[in-house]
Amino acid sequence: MMRHLLSIDDLERSDLDELLDLGESFLAVTRRDIPKVPALRGKTVVSLFYEDSTRTRLSFETAAKRLSADTMAFSVSGSSVAKGESLRDTVQTIEAMGVDAVVVRHPSAGAPHRVATWIDAAVVNAGDGRHEHPTQALLDALTLRRHRGIGLDGARVAIIGDARHSRVARSTAKAFAALGAEVTLVGPPTLLPESLIGWPVATTGDFDELLPSLDVVYLLRIQHERQDATLFPSLREYTTRYGLTVERAARLKPDTLIMHPGPMNRGVEIAAELAEGPGSVITEQVANGVAVRMAVLYQLLGTGAPVA
Ligand code: CP
Repeated sequence: MMRHLLSIDDLERSDLDELLDLGESFLAVTRRDIPKVPALRGKTVVSLFYEDSTRTRLSFETAAKRLSADTMAFSVSGSSVAKGESLRDTVQTIEAMGVDAVVVRHPSAGAPHRVATWIDAAVVNAGDGRHEHPTQALLDALTLRRHRGIGLDGARVAIIGDARHSRVARSTAKAFAALGAEVTLVGPPTLLPESLIGWPVATTGDFDELLPSLDVVYLLRIQHERQDATLFPSLREYTTRYGLTVERAARLKPDTLIMHPGPMNRGVEIAAELAEGPGSVITEQVANGVAVRMAVLYQLLGTGAPVA
């Protein structure tokens, strides 16, 4: 039984398969007329977000509600953080109100790991700096698995863009590789990781060469908020070399999937019309996020009884 979910490294292949199977079951629940099960009745899940979020925060809150848990939401703005309260005092104050799981997003790498040492509640990493975003990786893996069948053996995935500053790239590359995919990071040297230790990937600067062989094109947003220098000449230049334009998309195989964790910058890393095009599974990723987060919360807080 998992105690926390802090990194994809916490999960063996069998854990990944189990979570994705459970995610599949919960996806079926989310499609019922009444998309709710009593699995976590009496439990309380708090979202503790020190950074902005639309998808992750709302899908964790939706996931908890669909499992019949109570929810609390904390945002820095309007909280006593503005009066100088530390992260440790904040989480211990929230725990004293009686919570069973804390979903943490924080700009500092390792913050959820620290939180896990301060409280007894289960901790889920919802994105820590440029380090990890494990539930994004799980929803990406569920999405890809649903299109490929169980196992991603031999799937050729390119993750294009700002991998250096992307927690999504690190977690998703690890999860895809653990499930059998071949992952290549694509981008200018200034946006690729400084070191590939811990990254199960190849790298290239030549997106065009890869295009005809790819099963998945996974696009990243430029993480301006985590950059302290200008790392490429201009957005126009970036799009010219690394954007998924309509011309580049025409060179993909007909069944190549287009993925993006969101939020998108249409016209920069992806042409606006491709985001809704036939190869895009970007909306499916969001829907699968609720199911996979139900699976994570259920694994952390559930009794292990079958899903009703
Ligand atoms: N993909 C993702 O983490 O999106 P949000 O920042 O909106 O949660």
